[in-house]
Amino acid sequence: MKTRITELFGIQHPIIQGGMHYVGFAELTAAVSNAGGLGFITGLTQRTPELLAKEIARCLDMTDKPFGVNLTFLPTFSAPPYLEYIAAIKESGVRIIETAGRSPEEYMPVIKAAGIKVIHKCTSVRHALKAENIGCDAVSVDGFECGGHPGEDDIPNMILLPRAAEELKIPFVASGGMADGRGLVAALALGAEGINMGTRFVATKEAPVHENVKRAIVEATELDTRLVMRPLRNTERVLRNAGVEKLIEIEREKGATLKIGDIYEQVAGVYPKVMVNGEMDAGAWSCGMVAGLIRDIPSARELIDRIMAEAEELIRGRLGAMTDRA
Ligand SMILES: Cc1cc2nc3c(=O)[nH]c(=O)nc-3n(C[C@H](O)[C@H](O)[C@H](O)COP(=O)(O)O)c2cc1C
Repeated sequence: MKTRITELFGIQHPIIQGGMHYVGFAELTAAVSNAGGLGFITGLTQRTPELLAKEIARCLDMTDKPFGVNLTFLPTFSAPPYLEYIAAIKESGVRIIETAGRSPEEYMPVIKAAGIKVIHKCTSVRHALKAENIGCDAVSVDGFECGGHPGEDDIPNMILLPRAAEELKIPFVASGGMADGRGLVAALALGAEGINMGTRFVATKEAPVHENVKRAIVEATELDTRLVMRPLRNTERVLRNAGVEKLIEIEREKGATLKIGDIYEQVAGVYPKVMVNGEMDAGAWSCGMVAGLIRDIPSARELIDRIMAEAEELIRGRLGAMTDRA
C-alpha cells in the first residue's frame, strides 16, 4: 500500500508504533520496522542522552530499516535536557522524530537543521495546524479513544480525523483505537494516510514487557479504561486497577484543589513496577479502549501482515462488492 506516509518515511506499510514509556525499547522498535512498519524508541525512557545513544545503537544492530525516536514534552517532575537528547539522535544517524505533548516549536530549528523529519502527535485540529505551520512533516492525530494523553477536548476519531482532513495539507495518521484492518481502512476512508498504534503493540511477542501486562490487555474489555488527572489538565487514559481506583478516590476527595503531589504514589515511578515487575495494581499506566479489540499476542510481523491482509480483503472484497452491486 502506497500513501504519503509510506513515501515520506520510506516504509512498506502505513503502520506506526508510537512512543511508549518502558515499552518502546530497541526490541519492539526493530521488530516493527523489520516487519515493514515504522518503530519508535521512546527517548525519555532512557534516563540520559548517553543511554539513548546506546539504545539507538542496539536498534541499529537489529534492523537496517527506518526507525525513529519519540520525544515527549509532558509535565514531569524534572525537565529533561531535550537539546542533548536531540543531539544524541542526530549523532546516531536517526532521521525521524515523533514529538508529543507540548508543541516542539522551540526545537524545530535544531531538528530541521539536522535533516530530521518530524511527526507530531496531537489531539486537536488546532494543534495539528500549528504543527503544520511550524514545519512538521506529518502529524499523528490522537482521538479521545487513545491510550495515554487524549488532551482535554474529548473528540473521538470518527469526528477528529475528517476534521483534520478538511484542514491539513501535510499527511496525517490516525492514532487511538487502531488494532486491525478494519481500523486501517476506516482511517483511510476518513482521510488519514496510515495508522499509529500503542496499546495493540504492547500485546505483541517482541514488546519487552512483563507477560502480566500483555495478559491484562488481552483480558481487558473496552469498558476497562479510566481517565485520570483531568483536574490537573493532564488527562491520561489508563487501565483500571487497584492503584487507579485509589487515585480516582483521591481526585474525588480533593476536587478542584488536587495537586500532583496528592497522587504522587499512584503516578510516579509506576512504569517500571508494571512493565518490568508485572505489578498490575501499582497505579496509572496508559492503555487505550482498543484493549476491547485485542485478543492475542502475535509477533509484530504477524500483526502487521494480518492488518494489511485484512485491509486489502476489506477494500477489494466487502467494500468493492458493495460498489459493484450498486
Ligand atoms: C503503555 C503506553 C505508554 C505510552 N507512553 C507514551 C509516551 O511516553 N509518549 C507518547 O508520546 N505517547 C505514549 N503513549 C501513546 C502512544 O504512543 C499512542 O499515541 C497511543 O497509545 C495510541 O492509542 P492506542 O493505545 O489506542 O493505540 C503510550 C501508550 C501506551 C499504551
